[in-house]
Amino acid sequence: MPFYHKLGKIPHKRHTQFRKPDGSLYYEQLFGTIGFDGMYSNMYHEQRPTQVKEIKGSKNIKPKVAKANHIQSYRFRGFEIQPEGDYLESRKPVLTNSDCTIILAAPKNKTQDYFYKNSDADELIFVHRGSGKFRSHLGNLDFKYGDYLLIPRGTIYKLDFDTEDNRLFIVESRRPIYTPKRYRNWFGQLLEHSPFCERDLRRPYELETNNESGEFLMKIKKQDELFDMVYASHPFDVVGYDGYNYPYAFSIHDFEPITGRIHQPPPVHQTFETDAFVVCSFCPRKYDYHPQSIPAPYNHSNIDSDEVLYYVDGDFMSRNDIEAGHISLHPAGIPHGPHPGATERSIGKTETEELAVMVDTFKPLQICEDAMPIADETYYKSWLEH
Ligand SMILES: [Fe+2]
Repeated sequence: MPFYHKLGKIPHKRHTQFRKPDGSLYYEQLFGTIGFDGMYSNMYHEQRPTQVKEIKGSKNIKPKVAKANHIQSYRFRGFEIQPEGDYLESRKPVLTNSDCTIILAAPKNKTQDYFYKNSDADELIFVHRGSGKFRSHLGNLDFKYGDYLLIPRGTIYKLDFDTEDNRLFIVESRRPIYTPKRYRNWFGQLLEHSPFCERDLRRPYELETNNESGEFLMKIKKQDELFDMVYASHPFDVVGYDGYNYPYAFSIHDFEPITGRIHQPPPVHQTFETDAFVVCSFCPRKYDYHPQSIPAPYNHSNIDSDEVLYYVDGDFMSRNDIEAGHISLHPAGIPHGPHPGATERSIGKTETEELAVMVDTFKPLQICEDAMPIADETYYKSWLEH
């Protein structure tokens, strides 16, 4: 997160004596990325954050690949992923490559009896259904339909849901996820032409400080292995922190679309970037207003990127037979475009209610085993005229 945030109490100077009411020291921890070159925060714990009591075992959770090399367009019916109780168990990898994994999840349990940390990847969670509270050692955030939750690698968190009806679209990224650089000035501030600004980014507002000792199970993902580690102190025991490295939320409904007289290219919808993929938000907006404009997109060849669209709500103008929760995959190497009739249908329309999240990856995506039961094997023929 490229701006400064402070929560709780911190000492006047970093790396100086910061004492509890009883005179003993708080435990400082630097929480940083990219060695000491990336964004970081300085936290102050009630207890030593290093008190591992036991390593209970581990489980390999590397996505299982069903199709490694392919050149087929796919549709996946995302809502056919079956709900499961536990949050981590419910996460089903659909598409993957060495940079990122796209996951669908429908967790039913309202909370977890463990803490979770992904040390492999930043996580971007898009909330399609459900609401609740994201809780972490760096503070809490409320979430609801339409929110992106950006969780930097290493964040210890839990998700508390209000109900059992939850649908999440998750991108795990081995590269840090940032807001687009072209929308930031040289100080990092979002510029006037950015479709969102700092006011739209919700920072943790509530810090839980639990000074408890005992046995606390933390599930830590590292190198696609999930380790069960028991800590002797409560993972949420921070009394304060400051810095730039913390989770935040952004609602897709706060994205202000950029429109024009003629069709605008996908980068105007860009919301996040990494050096391995981009994330775009397609939001309700006025259509192009040139008198001869064609609002539907033209055919295009994404020669060197795979395009994943996750359909959230509204009619998607360029597609026939697409519903909420569907994912389309248009792979690199072949062109794709509007379905038959979609171009003509779009002419004269003045606005769209479509809502979708797009992930364009620069390396090809492999199709995971969990995606095969929800895959439409005939989708690639859906552009045939007859
Ligand atoms: Fe496209």
